[in-house]
Amino acid sequence: MNVFATRSLNIIEDFSINERRYFFRKVSELKKAIEAGDEETMSRFRIDDPDFGIYEVFLEDSTRTKESFRNAAKFHHAKVSELLATSSSINKGESYADTFNMLSGYHNSIFIVRSKVEGLTKWLSEECSEYAERNHLPYRPAFINAGDGKHEHPTQELLDEFSFLEDLDMSFDSIHVALVGDLYHGRTVHSKADGLKIFDHVKVDLIAPEELMMPESYIEKMKENGFSVTLYPSIEEYLKAGNPARLWYFTRPQLERMGERILQKQEMLRSAITFRREFLPLLKENTKFYHPLPRHKEHPTIPTWLDKTPLNAWERQAINGMYCRIVLLSLIGGKIGEDYVPVPGEHDDDRKTEEYIIKVEPSQKKKEKNYSEGVRPISNGIVIDHICKGDTPAEIRTHMRLISSVLGLDESRGGEWVSCGADGKYKGIIFRPGAREFERKDLKRLAAIAPHCTLNIIKDGKVLEKYRTHMPPRIYNFDDLCCQNEACISNPVNGEGVPAAFYRTPDGHFACAYCGRFHSFKEIWKKH
Ligand code: NCD
Repeated sequence: MNVFATRSLNIIEDFSINERRYFFRKVSELKKAIEAGDEETMSRFRIDDPDFGIYEVFLEDSTRTKESFRNAAKFHHAKVSELLATSSSINKGESYADTFNMLSGYHNSIFIVRSKVEGLTKWLSEECSEYAERNHLPYRPAFINAGDGKHEHPTQELLDEFSFLEDLDMSFDSIHVALVGDLYHGRTVHSKADGLKIFDHVKVDLIAPEELMMPESYIEKMKENGFSVTLYPSIEEYLKAGNPARLWYFTRPQLERMGERILQKQEMLRSAITFRREFLPLLKENTKFYHPLPRHKEHPTIPTWLDKTPLNAWERQAINGMYCRIVLLSLIGGKIGEDYVPVPGEHDDDRKTEEYIIKVEPSQKKKEKNYSEGVRPISNGIVIDHICKGDTPAEIRTHMRLISSVLGLDESRGGEWVSCGADGKYKGIIFRPGAREFERKDLKRLAAIAPHCTLNIIKDGKVLEKYRTHMPPRIYNFDDLCCQNEACISNPVNGEGVPAAFYRTPDGHFACAYCGRFHSFKEIWKKH
């Protein structure tokens, strides 16, 4: 069994840690073989099939990623094609799904796609699999994300890590790395939040002024992954603090993705993340600089006078790009990978089977009940209690309006109340007299929009059923869900008709299944 064949790589986590470690060992093997001209080893990696279709679709500019993939594809003696986006029917309003389904039909097995639209390859891998099935194609097309907006760049992540590993004697024990530059827009550094998990111990220093600092959700993810993370506003401050990393990863200020407000400050921002001569003596011995490139010809953050110094690891890193991509194509093309030994459970998701609506026994005790102020008992109907406990009354009221609308309770009798408990915390209560059935799907919606509340179903003056809700591990299949990221393939502004889907993160957010954007439980719905 080859576990890699026909797999898509949309985000770095699509390959398990063990799979990635296997990948790096294979890259090492191939690189040695190519450098030594060892044809026999090279041929073990080569797909060597002139009908095996590899398609490049770059809807955003690229030099290295596109050309290293093209050269990697040619190494395989495969059929290599390219869609010229500027003259394709995408410009006539055709959906991405229709375009790529078509290309899949022309015997193409691997698509390499770069786009501003985040989550595009994940959506396409789902859609084109179904297309292949209904058209009885003898293969399932695989997708490789070659960079999607500000989201991820998993193949760059692989080549970055391979380059780090070369400087760490191929050891996965530990890494201390400084990430410098535009950490806000740079997808290559975003992929590091999960990418660096291949190392047992990870220390990351983030160097960027506030405007370019890494989004909180990625910092949070790094911490959850057990990394030790420290923030610095500039290279100068970083070096003043002492103990700099030996590995420095620079990124370019991505002017094309910045708003006018930040652009006005570009000179100041650039200076905080540009290396200067006076910093040289403060570096540790054997320091290496990396950069995904390109660097700006007039304002490079790694100045060109450093090219001929031993700090230069970015040139080798770019060369590694082709080796890494050859191996990736070998794996997805099913040419190598048979000897990989899977780790049991490496792709399991513990969240899948978890129960999030807990039925609790209503209290039978006949006690002198202390009703929350203002709430009179209702004899038939529902009471949703403990809503947004701890928020301000205004926040609770705003959210109760959304709950009522999402659960279709707007047209019934009843009301909303904000009460204050003995602990001084506010909570919301929605009560709706009159019978109302709660089906499983309603309970799921309730759990998603009002986690940690209780639902009481009251009949003839008694609590007949009582439920406690927790955030569901996944939420999808509802028309009124919406990812708030306008760059996401599932956002309605893109008109691709992709249904939104979310999964719960360990820190209690809902992450979009396509672009990964974190949302609070209040934010995943369309305007009601
Ligand atoms: C990066 C990219 O496109 O995300 N470059 C690359 O792929 N080598 C970084 C960048 O554009 O700055």
